[in-house]
Amino acid sequence: MSEPAVIEFRDVQKRFASNAEPALAGVTLSVMRGEIFGVIGQSGAGKSTLVRLINALERPGAGTVSVDGIDVASLDADGLRRLRRRIGMIFQNFGLLSSRTVAQNVAFPLRLAGTGRSEIDTRVDELLARVGLTEHAHKYPAQLSGGQKQRVGIARALATRPEVLLCDEATSALDPETTRSVLTLLKELNAELGLTIVLITHEMEVVRRVCDRVAVLETGRVVETGTVGDIFSNTAHEATRRMLGAMAEHAA
Ligand SMILES: Nc1ncnc2c1ncn2[C@@H]1O[C@H](COP(=O)(O)OP(=O)(O)OP(=O)(O)O)[C@@H](O)[C@H]1O
Ligand SMILES: [Mg+2]
Repeated sequence: MSEPAVIEFRDVQKRFASNAEPALAGVTLSVMRGEIFGVIGQSGAGKSTLVRLINALERPGAGTVSVDGIDVASLDADGLRRLRRRIGMIFQNFGLLSSRTVAQNVAFPLRLAGTGRSEIDTRVDELLARVGLTEHAHKYPAQLSGGQKQRVGIARALATRPEVLLCDEATSALDPETTRSVLTLLKELNAELGLTIVLITHEMEVVRRVCDRVAVLETGRVVETGTVGDIFSNTAHEATRRMLGAMAEHAA
């Protein structure tokens, strides 16, 4: 691939307690600009740990994580703030502020960034229109469906115009149809904005629908990486076959 890597893991290890099994045991991978890169693995495989290393919510014990060629461990507080403005994140449980309206939730990162009020209003309108929530702007999260809440999460994550969007099990709390509509939105945003997306999931079906490439993670190790076409047609690793099997059972 000719595009440069935007995210690079080099032999990254992460252990949470000195005597515990490492959560990540030497992960090397590259995410290219503009792609939708999936990370799939079973519960406890280290997926959330991997994604949290990208925006430096966790620090590696060994190895390096770099974004645009800069080792994120080398950033000072100001550098970290700038990094996090360039990397949006959405979560399984949406992570919305329950006492604030939809519009206020989306405005939140802009207020933190010190953006002026009229610019915030314009940007929030634009974002809510893009995710199809204009008429819900003044509702509270509790008044929304799961799919609508995740759209608020996406709008909020995009508020600072990040280049990268991290999605940690962003659809696993949603029913299949809502999952499809959220995945379609992510795919459109990837195409429209050239947004690089790292999508964490335990569902092969999610990978098949939207990802360009995928890494299969098992007990802290990448056991297989490739294009989605390759992985589905020519699965080498048993862990991948197990997850494909689970998908076939689910579809049956
Ligand atoms: N803050 C923490 N303190 C101690 N151990 C942790 C912490 N975070 C993760 N771990 C451990 O690291 C391993 C990987 O966890 P991680 O959350 O990355 O898995 P995951 O693949 O995201 O799982 P799931 O699909 O259940 O979300 C697990 O054994 C977990 O118990
Ligand atoms: Mg997780």
